[in-house]
Amino acid sequence: MGTGKTNRVVLIGTGAVGASYAFALMNQGIADELFLIDLNEEKAMGDVMDLNHGKVFAPYPTPVVLGSYGDCREADLVVICAGANQKPGETRLDLVEKNTKIFKSITDQVMGSGFDGIFLIATNPVDILTYAVWKYSGLPKERVIGSGTILDTARFRYELGTYFNVAPQNVHAYIIGEHGDSELPVYSAADIGGVPVLKRIARDPEASMEDLDRIFIQVRDAAYEIIKRKGATYYGIAMGLVRITKAILHNENSVLTVSALLEGEYGESDVYIGVPAVINRDGVREVVELDLNEDEKERFAASAEVLRKSIRPLF
Ligand code: LAC
Repeated sequence: MGTGKTNRVVLIGTGAVGASYAFALMNQGIADELFLIDLNEEKAMGDVMDLNHGKVFAPYPTPVVLGSYGDCREADLVVICAGANQKPGETRLDLVEKNTKIFKSITDQVMGSGFDGIFLIATNPVDILTYAVWKYSGLPKERVIGSGTILDTARFRYELGTYFNVAPQNVHAYIIGEHGDSELPVYSAADIGGVPVLKRIARDPEASMEDLDRIFIQVRDAAYEIIKRKGATYYGIAMGLVRITKAILHNENSVLTVSALLEGEYGESDVYIGVPAVINRDGVREVVELDLNEDEKERFAASAEVLRKSIRPLF
């Protein structure tokens, strides 16, 4: 996996999400080398030039290079942001057909380089496409990771932090399941500064479960609201991808809600789905099994079934 000497990241797809990821990665100084690949080579070259011109301002002078699939051979991490994104009125699952075809070609070309690192997938429907890359690549499950519900969890923490007037860093709350309409909040394992959120609600006459449910709906539907206003989402997901990248390249053992393959955890198998997982240099070290209540168990099982229904016709 990679040369071990330098942290090489290859980004495939320099559209809005990919370009925002490259920009955020540069500004956080996490990678030693960044290669950009896109069907539109001119555009990718423009991003290479534009990013390199900002190098002097970055915390680390990451060289940005126009890449080709051969550069994946020595890559530690290949991040895939290529593919079609949601248009107003489209669900993420509506993109299955067109993006699965694109991903077969991308995965085959990456693996043809002799790549032996970690895949990180962001393109939607991310759980399905991460499963597809796992199948197409033949890599071990721990080295094929999807962005999953990392952004949903970030949105949830942001909204709960605003509601309780606490910094989001001190809100521990997860969104799990499909990165999509069937995702669910895990209130039973949520705390605000160490106080279980359900206890916090009971103590605070101003707070209510109705408000929390409204907050969850806001989080679940956030992408639709943003797409309605600006045509796409890219900053939040890009920062979430950089967070996962940092946990991998810095061997952090951080717990992040990514799309990971379940093989019995939560009573589910053969599905990539958003769950908290320990992330380090080897990818997914382990899936964290939360102690879900009955309602959360049912909703998680339903979400897993939504994904399996979409995956089944493909494999
Ligand atoms: C969103 C995209 C990344 O939720 O699915 O903004």
